[in-house]
Amino acid sequence: MSQAHKLYEGKAKILYSTDNPEILLSHFKDDATAFNAQKRGQISGKGEINCAIASRLFQLLEAEGIPTHFIERTAPNQMLVKRVKILALEVVVRNIAAGSLCQQTGLPVGKVLPNPLVEFYLKNDELGDPLLTRDRLLLLELATPEQLNQLQEQALRINQILTAFFGRCDITLVDFKLEFGITSTQELILADEISPDTCRLWNQSETDPNRRIMDKDRFRRDLGNVEDAYQQVLERVNAHCSSSEQNS
Ligand code: TMP
Ligand code: ASP
Repeated sequence: MSQAHKLYEGKAKILYSTDNPEILLSHFKDDATAFNAQKRGQISGKGEINCAIASRLFQLLEAEGIPTHFIERTAPNQMLVKRVKILALEVVVRNIAAGSLCQQTGLPVGKVLPNPLVEFYLKNDELGDPLLTRDRLLLLELATPEQLNQLQEQALRINQILTAFFGRCDITLVDFKLEFGITSTQELILADEISPDTCRLWNQSETDPNRRIMDKDRFRRDLGNVEDAYQQVLERVNAHCSSSEQNS
């Protein structure tokens, strides 16, 4: 491969060019941020762990017919991905009340929602990633009405697949954030990553509200044992992906 150029450095990943203009290299960093980068730190080994988890989950979703940007994992903390134009919005799916939903509505943490909730946030740290209404999203031309329907549909389908998979890992998928992009052929596909950085994951074998947390809330809230929790998620994901491969 000829000299790769750094195209973009985000909070958790760096994107490099490759020989093929349609393919980028995504490098996962150990850097961790929270509260729109007001809190910064490092989670040792996170780049490799998140790259491994995201690779497994993208493969699982692809096998279920969800188009993603994932091509292949080429190093412990690197994957090749399709080049897309990322939509400037974050799609959040919630199964159980936590985080900003509780802060903004007063719902108690842990309340099981009657139906999964799909929300759209503006991807803009300076503005604090505000929650968008459908009309504001269309006003800002962040997506077309057709893309918005597709996003909603894909997000709910991804939620079904991931909830069932994490359930087999003895993990409750509380909520998660997705990002989507448009390919050069105008296809809307899942991009970015799915990992303990972007999901709330609760250990079903633990009832203690702090001890059960296996995701970035351990870092956000200084709960300790962040690396152990991420590693535990990886081990369970690996164990259950291998068993589903053997069974297929
Ligand atoms: P929230 O409760 O803070 O709105 O977060 C909802 C979910 O989205 C949670 O799983 C964490 C994830 N998330 C991100 O991945 N990136 C973000 O910038 C934010 C705010 C949330
Ligand atoms: N990812 C966001 C940040 O870096 C927020 C978060 O995950 O809490 O600030």
